[in-house]
Amino acid sequence: MNLAKAIVFDLYGTLFDVHTVARRCDGYYPGRGLDMSVMWRQKQLEYTWLRTLMGQYIPFEDATRDALVYTCERLGLPLSEADRATLCEAYLELAPYPEVPAALRRLQATGLPLAILSNGSAFSIGRVVDGAGLRPHFSHLLSVESVGVFKPHGEVYELACRTLALPARQILFVSSNAWDAAGAAHFGFKVCWVNRNDSPFDELGTRPLMMIKQLDELPALLGG
Ligand code: LAC
Repeated sequence: MNLAKAIVFDLYGTLFDVHTVARRCDGYYPGRGLDMSVMWRQKQLEYTWLRTLMGQYIPFEDATRDALVYTCERLGLPLSEADRATLCEAYLELAPYPEVPAALRRLQATGLPLAILSNGSAFSIGRVVDGAGLRPHFSHLLSVESVGVFKPHGEVYELACRTLALPARQILFVSSNAWDAAGAAHFGFKVCWVNRNDSPFDELGTRPLMMIKQLDELPALLGG
């Protein structure tokens, strides 16, 4: 396969379904779970971008907690300290999308190194990946914590180049998050956008090289 010498994946929303937490939220606030998890995720992302602009790094778990507090307040839902801790714990127990384990097995069989590059802390990435038994597929689990900024800052994507000792153009970056795919393309990665929901791509001045709907379409595109 000549397209790239390594494949680097985003984690949340790409390999793992962040809306796994909706069911847990529904247990606390019946009928509100999905609304809650959608706002929670959006705020979590906004807080990572805003903290980066403010030059103030905080661990991803803290942004997740702060976003949950905001969401409950905004939706008028009571949140005790114990519920807050339990719901944040749910973010460490996300399920992979159903096709992901088999797709990773096929991609690993191509012989290319596979890595994760995520806004999560090393602790969170490890918990989520281990929880699904997927760690053996990856040569590296890379967290933004060593650079102290969040995606789509270029220093994060640079971390993958440094660790894999590859130039950006030899890395295929796979993300479902259009803003992340756009940031990675702007940085110089080859980008595969996993467009699970038939969404328009973000208008940020770049386009992905490839678009698929689910991860199991990727091995065939790479000849695997
Ligand atoms: C990740 C989130 C932001 O970096 O999708 O894994």
